[in-house]
Amino acid sequence: MDKKLGVKILGTGSYFPKKVLTNADLEKMVETSDEWISSRTGIKERRIAKKNEYASDLAFNASVEALKAANISEKEIDLILVATITPDMFFPSTACFLQTKLGLNSSPAFDLSAACSGFIYGIAVARAFIESGLYKNVLLVGAEELSKITDWTNRDTCVLFGDGAGAMVLSASEENYDVLSTYIGADGSYSNLLFIPAGGSANPATVETVNAKMHTMKMQGRDVFKVAVLKMAYAAEKALELSDKKLKDIKLFIPHQANMRIIEAVAKKIGISMSRVFVNIYKTGNISSATTITALDEAIKTGKLQKGDIVELIAFGGGFTWGAAVIRI
Ligand code: UT7
Repeated sequence: MDKKLGVKILGTGSYFPKKVLTNADLEKMVETSDEWISSRTGIKERRIAKKNEYASDLAFNASVEALKAANISEKEIDLILVATITPDMFFPSTACFLQTKLGLNSSPAFDLSAACSGFIYGIAVARAFIESGLYKNVLLVGAEELSKITDWTNRDTCVLFGDGAGAMVLSASEENYDVLSTYIGADGSYSNLLFIPAGGSANPATVETVNAKMHTMKMQGRDVFKVAVLKMAYAAEKALELSDKKLKDIKLFIPHQANMRIIEAVAKKIGISMSRVFVNIYKTGNISSATTITALDEAIKTGKLQKGDIVELIAFGGGFTWGAAVIRI
């Protein structure tokens, strides 16, 4: 009898723009303080892309690293997925731009929109394509330039976000089952708590919408906070259940890095100590779909994870969307 196809994780990579924007810099732009930002969010600095540096450029740099780590040629990739809410353009997809930058011209390529849960959704989609036998090698990227959809005059949001990209190469395997479980969910009734009001078909761009800064992110922070804690803890428990693993089997938990207080509340709710939780929010801010993958890549590069370790990625974002994945590195 044929063996079931599993998913092997071949490699990861990440890329951040060079420019660092510190809390001290923000103090000069809006009425805020390093003390407020640090104590309320855990963020100290974030990276900001150049004007002529696009999401597909960040995606490309992260992909090159992931392909190298995976020891695989770009020519062997047969599906490109990019999770992003800050695509280069509405269309063509950022995945298509990335494909061209990688020198490819025939593999299917498309974007996936699930806000900060985008990378977890991406693992679920890549897994489905691989396990069904449809594609063998998938390049999955989370790439964001939130700085370009931020209202830099609004202190409620501008201190929170940053730019960056992470990539993962996943491949079909009969021996390795590195994706042990994925769990994803959504509830669109919360759409008005975190969104961009204009620029889409509901409110096409006009002089008025642009003047009113309706093409930038709007968020009811306190309400988002409460649901984020509940749904991230719920998703973490569901994915664990589906993986047949126990809390003790997880070497490191990598939650979405939106707010240090959210991370701590989720850890408490799941029942784990913060020593088992990866945190890099202080230097990245919230980079939406690029968060969990860049954090995972950093944990691997800095030796916090060794080959064979089991990790749980957990995310929450606009939509609302949420999800978790238990994976072996
Ligand atoms: O990626 C997933 C989506 N995003 C999230 O998960 C974010 C979820 N929410 C949060 O992280 C937090 O709610 C925030 C960090 C956005 C805000 O923290 P908070 O503790 O919920 O603060 P708050 O909104 O209740 O505001 C408290 C005070 C207010 O002043 P008053 O009304 O008490 O006088 C704000 O005006 O802090 C004020 N404030 C600021 N002060 C200095 C808000 N932003 C700032 C700021 N600097 N940047």
